[in-house]
Amino acid sequence: MKHIILDTDPGVDDALAFLLAFNSPELKVEAVTTVAGNVNHTKGHKNAKKLLEFIGATDVPVCAGAEKPLIRVMSHAEEFHGKTGLGEAELPEPKLETDHRNAVEMILEKADELGKDLTLVAIGPLTNIAAALLADPKLPEKVDKLVIMGGAFNLTPYGLGNANAVAEFNIWHDPEAAKIVFNSGLPIVAAGLDTTTHPDYRMSVDMFNEIKDKKDRRSKLVVDLCKSLVEKFNGFSLHDPQAIAYVVDPTMFKTEKYKVDLEVHGELTRGMTVVERRYYRRVKEEANTDIIVEVDAPRFLKLIMDRVTGE
Ligand code: RIB
Ligand code: CA
Repeated sequence: MKHIILDTDPGVDDALAFLLAFNSPELKVEAVTTVAGNVNHTKGHKNAKKLLEFIGATDVPVCAGAEKPLIRVMSHAEEFHGKTGLGEAELPEPKLETDHRNAVEMILEKADELGKDLTLVAIGPLTNIAAALLADPKLPEKVDKLVIMGGAFNLTPYGLGNANAVAEFNIWHDPEAAKIVFNSGLPIVAAGLDTTTHPDYRMSVDMFNEIKDKKDRRSKLVVDLCKSLVEKFNGFSLHDPQAIAYVVDPTMFKTEKYKVDLEVHGELTRGMTVVERRYYRRVKEEANTDIIVEVDAPRFLKLIMDRVTGE
């Protein structure tokens, strides 16, 4: 059993990640912490509560986090995730109360309580994770690792940017936070655009239509979440679910270890995750990130079908 804290900016693919995480016996979600990203924090936090109530996980603490990046002005991706952040899905107004602990307090409390049994999972901007590291610089020694959906590492032909030519949105949204995280000593596993946008690892139109033919309530939610994006982008990139799937079963993934640092000054390169690939500079002990470079597509997509849509 892996104990996780799910830090998230729900978000259509975050919603699929919720459905997967809470339907995986290998995981125990200790808390959900929310961060501004895809939509503003108020919307994202409410979406997290709506999803917990839909799933029936109302005993899981939901903690408020950063309402803006550490330094930058707030931006959002509503053009992709829709005004509410959940596509065309309509879920009831939540009754769930916000936990009295904020995101940083929860992360630090669970790190002290669970230690190496705790995996931090961040599927939105890294603002909360950076804030937790600033509050407790010993956090990297306390927890097992941080698994993120984030980065564009240019290790596969798909590892290009989506927020700009070279940067992935979660990192781009708060590059200073990402720089703190990647230089903190926290062991990081990254599901970047290199694999989350790989055509073999996406939800294809055929897979979407298969889900559309299923009539259970989870499949209907997935259809309402994804339908406009599937039409617009000829399928759907399973960004955040890929990070969750890694925690569920790392044997489905091949990773390569590199030193990664962040570009925070560039005009064209804001949020670029710069990978040290020069063979004469690839110093083992400096490598801070295990980057996913390959996915066992049949096993990954079966996991999505069985657990994101399954009862
Ligand atoms: O670039 C994809 C990431 O940005 C995903 O986490 C998505 O939810 C958005 O936050
Ligand atoms: Ca996200």
